Amino acid sequence: MEARDPEQEPLNYTWNFGNGEKLETKDPEVSYTYKTPGDYQIYAEVKDPEGASIKSEELHVYAGNQQPIVSIDIVGNQSFYFPGKEVEYKVSVSDEDTAYARPPNGLYISADYLEGFDKAAAPLGHQQAMAAATGEGLMMSYDCKTCHKVAGKSIGPAFTLVGAKYPDNPQSSDYLINKIRKGGGGVWGETTMAGHPNISQSDVTTIVHWVLSLGKKVAVKPSLSSSGSLKPSLGKTENDKAALVISASFTDKGGPGIKPLTGTNSVALKSANLNFNRVKRMKDFDTDDEKGIHYMTTTKTEGWFSIDHIDLSGIIGADLLVGYEKSPLYGYVFELRLDGRSGTLLGSADLLPDPKNNKPNNFVTLKYKFSLAVSGYHDLYVIAIPKDEKEKQEMRLGALKLLIK
Ligand code: HEC
Repeated sequence: MEARDPEQEPLNYTWNFGNGEKLETKDPEVSYTYKTPGDYQIYAEVKDPEGASIKSEELHVYAGNQQPIVSIDIVGNQSFYFPGKEVEYKVSVSDEDTAYARPPNGLYISADYLEGFDKAAAPLGHQQAMAAATGEGLMMSYDCKTCHKVAGKSIGPAFTLVGAKYPDNPQSSDYLINKIRKGGGGVWGETTMAGHPNISQSDVTTIVHWVLSLGKKVAVKPSLSSSGSLKPSLGKTENDKAALVISASFTDKGGPGIKPLTGTNSVALKSANLNFNRVKRMKDFDTDDEKGIHYMTTTKTEGWFSIDHIDLSGIIGADLLVGYEKSPLYGYVFELRLDGRSGTLLGSADLLPDPKNNKPNNFVTLKYKFSLAVSGYHDLYVIAIPKDEKEKQEMRLGALKLLIK
């Protein structure tokens, strides 16, 4: 933790570990090992020699289990999918108790083809499927299993019967959360269930989510296998604005009194038919939007824009789509460079005057074959240089298609 005293005097730290134990130190650092697994709220109190004190914010820690780390490896380019070319992936998990986990139960992998996907966070469908998968393990870590079976008779009703009795909606989940915390009887027979006031809100919610998912017709999509290949658009029509998102979660088994924990990861591959919607850095270029296309427009002088932080591994060339209302008077040179206006030249193409082509919405495709093999992440610069400073026509750049072997 960090603490500052305006009078620069030595400070005293009292650490509260949330289990009744306390420790005093002179340093703002402490290391402590819990003997019993569980959820703990920890905080520190800081005192100066005059006795003025302040309490830190409370921090929630869970002792007893470590969160699994899930990795998704994509074979080949890490930024893009290419039309018609299958994407090969492999998911691996590192966790201190994978030995106890029960794949495929613990591992859930899903793929989506989504438009407007920005961040590599797991989509909602994946998260709900995971809550349902985590619920059983969480339930097993509490005393529920002494009175309940997933399916079959026990002191309390089978969870599949409870799942079938109530519709999966917020009213049912509020009712069941409340019943588990407060206890009660009379619904399934004479025996009552004692309350569970100490179970955390998030755990009881996850368990109820899982119970309500049991015996429902709306089946959760089965997990993909831990390695394989996918059609980039998953059988849907390919769309330059959509990304292939692969998400993987792993829930370890936990154990008696040890809560299972979930690790999640996602990767998003965008179309190699790049539009310029996300271009942020530019000099002497204008932008304009028409019919859903975001154009980068030249300004009669030399200018550039940059497509930032993309993996260019395996890319051997590109097609640049340039449109104009009126043919250029003198022509333009369009260069592609790595990481800067004066960076390594990948290719250069001329756009020459073509006075016959003065009809609106005329498009020309400039073709590039890269001069060298590139690997790794780069900023790709697109540079427009008019062949003569008297050039009067503006060119509109609509898309850049990256090509692989
Ligand atoms: C000591 C035995 C016992 C334990 C432990 C226990 N239950 Fe129950 N549970 C029961 C009984 C008995 C009922 C039936 C109550 C009734 O008929 O209303 C029940 C009912 C339920 C219901 C259905 C409630 C309804 O109104 O339909 C749910 C859901 C449930 N338990 C979840 C849990 C969970 C989750 C845990 C662990 C955190 C747990 N139970 C622990 C005995 C127990």
